[in-house]
Formats: sequence, structure tokens, C-alpha cells
Amino acid sequence: MGDVELEAVAVLVNGVVTNTLAGITVTNTQLGLLYTNQIPNPLSSMQPFATSGSYSTNYNAAINICAQCHNDRGALPTDTSFPPHNSSQYNMLLGVVGVLPSGEPTNQPATHAFLEKQCVTCHMQTSSYVSPAQPANSGHTFQVDSYAACATCHGSAADAQNLVAFLAFDINNQIQTVNAALNEWATTKAPPALKTKYGTRAWEYSNPGSLSPGGPGPTAAEQSSNAVPANIMQARFNLYLVVNDGSLGVHNPLYCLDLLEYADELVEAELSQ
Ligand code: HEC
Ligand code: HEC
Ligand code: HEC
Repeated sequence: MGDVELEAVAVLVNGVVTNTLAGITVTNTQLGLLYTNQIPNPLSSMQPFATSGSYSTNYNAAINICAQCHNDRGALPTDTSFPPHNSSQYNMLLGVVGVLPSGEPTNQPATHAFLEKQCVTCHMQTSSYVSPAQPANSGHTFQVDSYAACATCHGSAADAQNLVAFLAFDINNQIQTVNAALNEWATTKAPPALKTKYGTRAWEYSNPGSLSPGGPGPTAAEQSSNAVPANIMQARFNLYLVVNDGSLGVHNPLYCLDLLEYADELVEAELSQ
């Protein structure tokens, strides 16, 4: 390793960032009111954040380190090419992405957003060396491989693990319900040209997400002029936000359930026309 790289590492490890968000309800007591930019001791943040370029040009020291990459990248319900990327975890945690009925707050953070280290609390749980068979775990795989961090609020680690399975069951059911409703729209209500050409993929993005393998969806031009109505676009957006978040609801349980419920209502409104 050359001198320049060594210097860069030193700066990172010793660097401290003052929390510009003092006053916000996240209490991070690590190192007093100062925060390092070491991954295991991150700054918590509560304001919405989305990138549109590369990591280096977008880096914002006032934002949770994981969110520098794990954000929604400005995805919108009006997008036609791709479903929201599988990186919206930060915005999901804060409850600031997705379409809800007008009048509902546009900011519905999960209780999980108020964990001291946010993502790191769950994804980088550590344990000490016990024996060769139980080595120390530094948490650097980012896998949720322990539920110990959940016990303070959910009774026990085992209870929390059961809750995850229970919620996953519920969320998967809702995903299938909305998916089935969209397929029904595609095969019964979509404009004939789309129905013929794309079948059940008529509701999809030009590059369909994981729910619709097997080929392309309608082009941007084919989706325009209300051929794919706003209700359907908003429903597919909510649906793929939850699917591509990858936590099956854990990041923001009530919000994810709301997004899917509203998606279903939006599709039902189109089906009943
Ligand atoms: C520099 C960008 C970047 C940062 C910062 C980042 N990630 Fe990731 N993360 C990624 C990418 C890209 C993937 C997808 C890798 C793939 O699909 O193969 C990923 C994948 C993951 C996964 C999926 C599981 C896996 O092993 O593939 C988890 C969980 C995760 N990151 C958590 C975190 C957490 C927690 C933090 C903060 C401590 C974090 N990431 C910081 C870019 C980042
Ligand atoms: C309350 C605990 C908790 C918090 C806080 C949390 N996660 Fe998760 N996350 C989970 C659980 C549980 C899963 C389900 C799948 C698993 O076991 O990895 C998950 C799933 C994921 C996945 C998908 C993993 C995969 O293999 O596909 C990513 C990526 C991810 N989280 C990133 C983040 C990021 C980034 C943050 C912060 C913005 C965050 N999580 C905050 C508990 C949490
Ligand atoms: C600071 C307390 C706290 C911690 C720590 C915590 N949770 Fe939660 N969790 C809550 C609250 C409160 C809710 C209710 C939903 C809400 O308020 O957003 C919830 C909801 C849930 C739900 C949805 C089911 C339900 O009962 O609503 C799951 C699943 C869940 N948490 C899993 C986890 C997992 C897994 C961890 C650890 C990796 C964890 N939680 C850590 C407070 C916590």
C-alpha cells in the first residue's frame, strides 16, 4: 500500500463529524455529541436523502453512512423504465417514499428509525470470541444473523425472530394480492394493444421487476396518454418499493402494510370502472 492510501485511511478513521442535526429526536450518545465516520459508529439522520449521481459526488456527511448508497435515488411513481431500485431502505425506514392517500402524513418514520445506530443496530450486531466454534463476530457481513438487539423492545430474541416470520407471511400475502389485482387489470382492463402485446405484463415497467419475468413491458410511449393510468403506476410503485426493500416489512412495518393496502385500493378503483 502506498503512502497516499495509508494517509487516506488514517483520515477516515480519525475523522469526526459534528452532528448538524442536534435537536432531532435521534439520540446518539456515542463519543458524546460527536460522531465518527467509522461504519460501526455511524451518525443517525432523519432527513430524506436521495442521490442521483455517483457516491463521491453525492456524499453528505450529515446523513447516515449506509444511506449514502441505500437510498431511493429519486425514484418516482411516474417512472416508466424501471421499478424503484432495491436500495430504498433508508427512505423506507423514514417512511418518506411511496404513495399514500392525500391527507396522510408524507413522513412516517418507523420506531426502528429511532434506534441509536439505525441500520447498524440490526445489521452489524457484534459478539465476542467464545471458543473456536463460536468466534467473535464483527458484524461486517451486514447480515441480520442475531436478534439479540431486538430483545429490549420485543421481549426476547426468539420473539423478535417469530415476529419477523409472521410479518413476512403477511407482507408476502399482500404482495401476492396486489400482484394478482394488477395482472387482472392487465388482462381485462388494459388497452387492447397492450393486452395483446404484453399479457399480464401490461401493467409493468418497460423493464419489468422480479414479479414479471419473461420479457419486456410496455415502452414509455405505450404507457403514455393514460394507457397505463396514474392509479396503476402508483400501485406498481408502492408494490415494488416493498418488494425491492428486501426486509419484507421489517424496516417500517406499518408503513409497508399501508403502502400495499393503498396499492390494492388503487388497482380496485381501476378494476371497478
Ligand atoms: C458505497 C455504497 C454502499 C454503502 C456505503 C453501504 N452499502 Fe450495503 N450494499 C451496497 C450494494 C451495491 C449492495 C448490493 C450488493 C449486491 O447486490 O451484490 C449492498 C448490499 C447490502 C446488503 C444485502 C446483503 C448482502 O450481503 O448483499 C445489506 C444487508 C447491506 N448492504 C447493508 C448495508 C449497511 C447496514 C450499510 C451501512 C453500515 C451499508 N450496507 C452501506 C452498497 C453500499
Ligand atoms: C430493526 C432492525 C433493522 C433496521 C433498523 C434495518 N434493517 Fe435492514 N433488514 C432487517 C431485517 C430483519 C431484514 C430481513 C432480511 C435479513 O435477514 O437480512 C433486513 C433486510 C435488509 C436488506 C435486504 C437484505 C437482502 O439480503 O436482500 C437490506 C439491503 C437492508 N436490510 C439494509 C438496511 C439499511 C441500509 C438500513 C438502514 C437505512 C436497515 N437495513 C435498517 C432489519 C433491519
Ligand atoms: C427501540 C425498540 C425496538 C427495537 C430495538 C426493535 N424494535 Fe421492532 N418494533 C418496535 C415497535 C415500537 C414496533 C411497532 C411498529 C412501529 O412502531 O413502527 C416494531 C415492530 C416490529 C415488527 C412488526 C410486527 C409488530 O409487532 O408490529 C417486526 C417484525 C419487528 N419489529 C422486528 C424487529 C427486529 C427483528 C428487531 C431487531 C433486529 C427489532 N424489531 C428491534 C420497536 C423495536
